[in-house]
Amino acid sequence: MDKKTILEGLIKVYREKHPKSEMHFNEARQYQVRGGSHNLRLFEPFPFYDVHCKGSKVIDADGNTYVDFWQGHFTNILGHNPKIVLDALIDYFQKGLGLTTGFPGLAQKELAEIILKRVGGDRIRFTTSGALATMYSIMLAKAFTKRDLVLKVGGGWHGSNPYVLKGISSYDQGLNQTESAGLPLEMDSQILVTALNDLDSLREKFREFGERIACFIVEPFVGAGGFLFSDKAYLREARELTRQHDSVLIFDEVVSGFRFHAGGVQSLYGISPDLTIFGKAIGGGMPVSAVAGREEIMEFCSPGGSPLEKVKFEGGTFSAHPASILAGITFLNYLVEHEEELYPKIGQLGAKVRQGIEEIFSSHGMNVKCTGYGNSIVENSSAVGVHFLKQDIEKITSPEQVWNPEICDFELREKIFKLAMLNEGFNIFHGYGSISAAHSEGEIQASLEAVERIAKSWSGSK
Ligand SMILES: Cc1ncc(COP(=O)(O)O)c(C=O)c1O
Repeated sequence: MDKKTILEGLIKVYREKHPKSEMHFNEARQYQVRGGSHNLRLFEPFPFYDVHCKGSKVIDADGNTYVDFWQGHFTNILGHNPKIVLDALIDYFQKGLGLTTGFPGLAQKELAEIILKRVGGDRIRFTTSGALATMYSIMLAKAFTKRDLVLKVGGGWHGSNPYVLKGISSYDQGLNQTESAGLPLEMDSQILVTALNDLDSLREKFREFGERIACFIVEPFVGAGGFLFSDKAYLREARELTRQHDSVLIFDEVVSGFRFHAGGVQSLYGISPDLTIFGKAIGGGMPVSAVAGREEIMEFCSPGGSPLEKVKFEGGTFSAHPASILAGITFLNYLVEHEEELYPKIGQLGAKVRQGIEEIFSSHGMNVKCTGYGNSIVENSSAVGVHFLKQDIEKITSPEQVWNPEICDFELREKIFKLAMLNEGFNIFHGYGSISAAHSEGEIQASLEAVERIAKSWSGSK
C-alpha cells in the first residue's frame, strides 16, 4: 500500500470539497495559532469551519454533511444540541436569566445531588474544565497527605494539567517522558508513571515510593490512551495499596462518567476512590467539571485556615456558571430517566462497529483491531477505537501498544483513514469515536459500508 499516494489523493478530494473552509482556514491563521484553539481539531490539510450540528450530523461551510462520531470530544451522549437541553436554556434566557451572576445559585445543589447520589462521595465542588479539576484534585491530595509524588498511568490523559504532563503519548521504549515545556524544573521527578492493568508494576511503585506517594490518579476507562478499561482487579488493588500507604486514590471519570450508564464506572465496579473527577457529560454540552469525594479531603478548599495548609481551589469567575449548571441538570436527569433503553442501545451499536471493522479489514488482508471492548461488568461500550497494526497481535490491551510506532500505525489512522472517512461523509476520531443516542442503525451500517469501500480500495492499491 503506497500511503503517500493515497494521502495525496485524499487531500486533493478534500480540498475540492472544501473551498470555503480552506479560505476560512487561511483567514483564521492570520490571527489564531494554526487557525483555532485546540490542536486536535486542527487536522491536516485544514479543518472544516462554520459547522451547524444537530443530532448525529454536522454540516460545514461548503454544505458537506457528515455523520459525526467525534461528538464534542465524546461529550454528546445524546448527539449534538439535544432539544431537551436547548429548550431548558432557551426558557432560561427568555426569563432574562442564565448569564453569570457571582452568586451561589440553588441549581448547583441539584446538580451536586444528582452526581453524588449516582456516583458517590460526600462533597463536590464545580469548576470549568477537566484539566482544572484534575489539577485541583492533585493539589488537594498533596495538601491532605503532605507528600510530593503523583503516580499516574502511562497513556493516562488528564488534561493540560502540569502535575500529570508525563507518560501520555510520546513513546520511547515506554511511556515515561515529560511531554511539555514550561513546567517547574522538579516536576519530572515528582511524577511517577506505572503501566495500566499491571499489578506488579503498581505494587513495585508502592513498595519503593509508598511513603511519598500523595495520590494515584487513574481513568477507570482510559480515553485518549486507547479506549481501554482498567480491570476491576487492578482498581481494587489500587484501592488496597493507596489505603495501606495512606495515599489518595483519584478516579478520573471525565470520559467514563455517564458514558456507560447513568453514573461512573466506579459504581459498576463497586470501588470507591477518595476523589473523583467529572467533566464532559456532566455539563450537557456546556463547560462544567467537578471534583468530588471524601469530606475531610474536600475540606482543604473550604474558606479559612492557614494559607499554607489550604488549597487555593477557591473558585473562578465562571465556576458553576448558571447556564452550564442548568444544562447539566437537564442532561443528567434525562440520562438517569432513560438509562435502561439508552445505554444498551449505544453499547450494542458499538459492538457492531467493532466487529464489523475488524472483519472488513481482515477480509482485505489487513490486521486492524478495535478497542472499547467491554468486560464482564460493562458488557458493551459505545466507544470505538481503531488501530492499524504493524505486528501480528490478537488484541490491543495497553496504551504502550497504542503509542508504540512499531506496533500501531498512527499516521494511517489519524491522517489517512480519517481523511478517507471524511471524504465518505463520516467524521471520526481515534479511528472511529463514540456512538450517541442520536445515531441510527442505518448510519452505523452506512459507516461500515464506507469502511468496506476504503479497505477495498487500499487492498487494490497494494
Ligand atoms: C480522562 C480525561 N481527563 C481530563 C480531561 C481534560 O478535560 P478538559 O479537556 O475539559 O480540560 C480529558 C479530556 O479529554 C480526559 O479525557
